[in-house]
Amino acid sequence: MSTSGRIEFFKHTLGDEEAASWRQVLETVFLTLGPQVAAFEKELGEFLLRGRSQDESLARARHVVGTNSCTNGLLVALKALGLEPGDEVITTPMTFVATTNAIMHLGGRPVLADVDPQTGLLDPEAVRAAVGPRTVGILPVHLCGQMADMRAFRAIADAHKLFLLEDSAHGIECERDGVRPGDLGDAAVFSFYATKTVTSGDGGAIVTKDSMLADRMRRLRNHGVSKAATDRHGGEYQHWDLVELGFKANLTDLDAAILRPQLPRALAQRQARQANDDHYRALLPELTPSLFDGLFSRLFTGPLTAVAGGQTAAVPPLFARVGTSSHHLFTVHVPAEKRDAVLTGMGARGVGVAVNYRAIHTLSYLEHTLRIPRGSLPHAEAIGDRTVSLPQYPGLTESERIRVMQLLEETLRA
Ligand SMILES: Cc1ncc(COP(=O)(O)O)c(C=O)c1O
Repeated sequence: MSTSGRIEFFKHTLGDEEAASWRQVLETVFLTLGPQVAAFEKELGEFLLRGRSQDESLARARHVVGTNSCTNGLLVALKALGLEPGDEVITTPMTFVATTNAIMHLGGRPVLADVDPQTGLLDPEAVRAAVGPRTVGILPVHLCGQMADMRAFRAIADAHKLFLLEDSAHGIECERDGVRPGDLGDAAVFSFYATKTVTSGDGGAIVTKDSMLADRMRRLRNHGVSKAATDRHGGEYQHWDLVELGFKANLTDLDAAILRPQLPRALAQRQARQANDDHYRALLPELTPSLFDGLFSRLFTGPLTAVAGGQTAAVPPLFARVGTSSHHLFTVHVPAEKRDAVLTGMGARGVGVAVNYRAIHTLSYLEHTLRIPRGSLPHAEAIGDRTVSLPQYPGLTESERIRVMQLLEETLRA
């Protein structure tokens, strides 16, 4: 616990190494799109390929394009993949609004398909049913750091000639059935936002195996111009041209310098977050009998059911685990009528909590524009009404985890 007694929702692990790396950039000419960005892109590509031999089908080189956020990375990637106004992209309602904002800013229409209630991940069967004449792509999200079923989505994308773009904002460290972000998608986009597993405050990156696509994304992240300032530095003056309409979306060298030292420790930190997750999961039933008359056990052993649109959605108290998660988030599902009281109660007791996420079609703007009535996506709605994210970061101590669970129980009982 911190000296104030507060248990933060998230604490970054940036320290002396990042400060030294950042300072070095200040002594050089290039503050953006320079050698630190290139080095980070190369190192992230190597990280994503770690441990794979050259002859494996997934061992092809990864091309990484650093961006100033995942949101802008999604914009760049969607444009590079050919999204045109009026096109439909099938995605999940259990995500941050950045996923759909990016589609809509390009004039596309997000089509939301429901999630698997056991994992909160986009359901391949629901996606298959949602494919229509205007569908051009599928955009799964690796929620909380657990990977969506990329093999199933690849098969659907191939069958219907759609692009497959992964929103991997929740981790670079995840894997499922031997598949990592960027392995089966045409591209995957990462976030280095302030609370993410690897962070520079804000930042992002796109990974793809397609070098031509990567070249286009490099141009699109820099307005759509033919040559960046770093490419033209030294020698004779060279004119640049505007080749297509792009974005201002590049990563800076200052941010890349902060990101680079985090890659070598990313897997050890994933392990530390997994240990938090293991402990939280073990604590739930452990607290049960002694603490209050079985209420906790009633809340946390049976599935919580939600009736929506004439269907019953069973939401387990915890998401089932699939594959190797990045463990970006730890979420529990509490009864819907108690959820907001738990959020305020935890906050009042000095514990940082969050909601990841209310189903996005229930948010005002999307409610007005997408017009998907409540009841249409019952699994996502049931999760969205019940989910609470608890503190999750490498430095969280054993006593803090116990305290979090005790306070969760207290707020549920209140
Ligand atoms: C699932 C998801 N997608 C996209 C984003 C956007 O990331 P960024 O803040 O880097 O633009 C986030 C950020 O929270 C996210 O959680």
